[in-house]
Amino acid sequence: MRQGYPRRCPALLGLTLVTVLLFLSPVIGWRPRPWPHNKTNAYDHTFGDSKKFEGSSEFVHLKYHMGPVLTANITVHTIWYGIWERNQKKVIREFISSISAANSKHPSVAGWWKTVQLYTDQTGSNISRTVRLGAEKNDRFYSHGKSLTRLSIQSVIKSAVTAKTKPLPISPKGGLYLLLTSPDVYVQDFCGQVCGFHYFTFPSIVGYTLPYAWVGNSAKLCPGVCAYPFAVPDYIPGLKPLKSPNGDIGVDGMVSVIGHELAELATNPLVNAWYAGQDPSFPVEIADLCEGIYGTGGGGSYTGQLFSGEDGATFNMNGIRRRFLVQWVWNHVVSYCTGPNALDQ
Ligand SMILES: *[C@@H]1O[C@H](CO)[C@@H](O)[C@H](O)[C@H]1NC(C)=O
Ligand SMILES: *[C@@H]1O[C@H](CO)[C@@H](O)[C@H](O)[C@H]1NC(C)=O
Ligand SMILES: *[C@@H]1O[C@H](CO)[C@@H](O)[C@H](O)[C@H]1NC(C)=O
Repeated sequence: MRQGYPRRCPALLGLTLVTVLLFLSPVIGWRPRPWPHNKTNAYDHTFGDSKKFEGSSEFVHLKYHMGPVLTANITVHTIWYGIWERNQKKVIREFISSISAANSKHPSVAGWWKTVQLYTDQTGSNISRTVRLGAEKNDRFYSHGKSLTRLSIQSVIKSAVTAKTKPLPISPKGGLYLLLTSPDVYVQDFCGQVCGFHYFTFPSIVGYTLPYAWVGNSAKLCPGVCAYPFAVPDYIPGLKPLKSPNGDIGVDGMVSVIGHELAELATNPLVNAWYAGQDPSFPVEIADLCEGIYGTGGGGSYTGQLFSGEDGATFNMNGIRRRFLVQWVWNHVVSYCTGPNALDQ
């Protein structure tokens, strides 16, 4: 079994989903493809061929496999690996804090999390509404180098929870560990196949089984893949990148990947709860099913309907003080992808 669970690169699912389900391969990285119509306004906020059921498919058989989900208050412990600017940390922290904020303007990040809250465990308990920022750790001096593997990522987490000064707390109940790597750090399979992944640590390495996720800042290595649509790959001529809501392409791109991974960690923390596909080594989880879908009509190569701010930036939901562009997640009650900015809500 691969110990990573590679997943997530921006945009485009549609037919790819069918391919993924048929071949059950987690390594099919999404690659932006040339738009079907040669238009520079492919992001046009007009309705294309509108689909009521974004991402819906008769091929999707998302099932509950009896494992635990995160029903207790969730605490996110962030490890900042490499060099991070104060403002970059602020954007990411505010996104995470927005998940359970009561007072953001509709459509909100908290509204986005409501779809995740629809998932339950065997006892009928829903995923927690509360997601809090926990203690953080700075790994400024690249404790395990500038090229990490799936296994050395676990060693980075071990260093953080066993540090002599201010170790991250071990919180088996609702604790998550989020490793974020700066743009000069390469992680196994980054860019080619994945922009982030989640899994759990091994007691043999870390001493505990802790759900964790890694998300990389792709600004230097592959923004066209992992910070799409705020950057577009060279091989799509004529397509202009969208302006990102917080003025930092790498970080604004990470926000959606972090949302993707948190939604999956909550519903499938030990990779034995909510996923589609026959093979637990290659689970297709609730955010995988909606990759590239950010608004009504999304699917195929189209992001769906988004908003344009007065500053020209594109977003689809409001946080406490900022705006974000975050992909939708699968809603198992209605069997399609949903998000707070859906037009029919
Ligand atoms: C797309 O259209 C533009 C303008 O109509 C044109 O200049 C460009 O060559 C076209 N690109 C492709 C790949 O057809
Ligand atoms: C969980 O979070 C809620 C809302 O922040 C809070 O009222 C409650 O006391 C928390 N429960 C525990 C067990 O920490
Ligand atoms: C809990 O999950 C059930 C089943 O999906 C759903 O009907 C209910 O609305 C959820 N409750 C909350 C608070 O989201």
